[in-house]
Amino acid sequence: MTTGMNEDCLPEGKMPVIRVPARPADQNPGGSIFGGWIMSYVDIAGSIPALSRVKGPVVTRAVDSFEFKKPVFVGDLISCYADIISEGKTSIKVKVEVFAERMSKGEISCVKVTEATLTYVAIGENRRPKTLPDK
Ligand SMILES: CC(C)(COP(=O)(O)OP(=O)(O)OC[C@H]1O[C@@H](n2cnc3c(N)ncnc32)[C@H](O)[C@@H]1OP(=O)(O)O)[C@@H](O)C(=O)NCCC(=O)NCCS
Repeated sequence: MTTGMNEDCLPEGKMPVIRVPARPADQNPGGSIFGGWIMSYVDIAGSIPALSRVKGPVVTRAVDSFEFKKPVFVGDLISCYADIISEGKTSIKVKVEVFAERMSKGEISCVKVTEATLTYVAIGENRRPKTLPDK
């Protein structure tokens, strides 16, 4: 497995918020993994730092950008990393990076497969936007 901070390896010194293997049921007819499966994990991953920051409910307001840089295949172990990149009054922008570890013939290779930015909004009991709590 490669190490370091380049595009093709797991970021050093950071914990993924989700790690999950891609299974045969997650494939599309073209033989790679269905994009919606990855999008779902990206949304869940992005919500984790937003939930920790708000300490209450958040909803996904927008997917600001989403790039499938490389395909994911059955057997790949995907790791999602999520970091808050900016905050507004009620909203939080989170960058999510997804890497796939691919095991073959006793070797592990690692590739960055997806990068996305999402906006979450803190909501109150009325389901309306709520000012973020102090840090
Ligand atoms: C989230 C929701 C309550 C916000 O209501 P709203 O009327 O859009 O609220 P506002 O216009 O005041 O915007 C709230 C925040 O979102 C931001 N925002 C609004 N539209 C945005 C967009 N297209 N992209 C990024 N941020 C956006 C605003 O800038 C504001 O942030 P700030 O307070 O930090 O400046 C409402 O849009 C909603 O319920 N959406 C559905 C959420 C949902 O079901 N998600 C999917 C499942 S979790």
